[in-house]
Amino acid sequence: MAGFFKNRRLIKDLHTFEKNTLMDKTTVNDCKLIDIPKIEDPRGNLSVIEKDVVPYNIKRVYYLYDVPGGAERGGHAHKNTQEFLVAISGSFDVVLNDGDSQQTITLNRPYRGLLITTGIWRELKNFSSGAVCLVVASDVYDEEDYIRDFEEFLSSKKV
Ligand code: TYD
Repeated sequence: MAGFFKNRRLIKDLHTFEKNTLMDKTTVNDCKLIDIPKIEDPRGNLSVIEKDVVPYNIKRVYYLYDVPGGAERGGHAHKNTQEFLVAISGSFDVVLNDGDSQQTITLNRPYRGLLITTGIWRELKNFSSGAVCLVVASDVYDEEDYIRDFEEFLSSKKV
């Protein structure tokens, strides 16, 4: 019986190791813009984010709004959570950093989103007035999944 629990523990450790290894290796090139299917209609367009649009099961949806002029959001990386960001109204810039290179992507279309994989530092800035950032996440909220210190993030990428 003890062996059973030890094996389960080893499998869990291996799983965690694999996930963390994955986040060590990701680069800004693993982040990509994805077109969201659009149903055009003279009465107004409609876009749907479901199953095949993002490469994970959606566990959480949240949104940023009423962002004051000049404010910045983000400033962290996620260990295991992937996120898909959409400017459903207005525009903003997403600065991605993998510890090696940096890339800035402007989101300004409600039918195109940015997939941010694990282990990528992101900063959101230059929000237009009335901008709304929709985030479709692969996991529930867990503060343990965040790296909020940039030096710690850089160390985590050097493993
Ligand atoms: P944070 O993820 O740092 O916001 P952003 O990256 O957009 O600047 O979250 C801000 C606060 O909100 C922080 O105290 C955690 C809390 N929060 C939740 O409680 N649940 C959530 O799903 C999210 C995303 C944040």
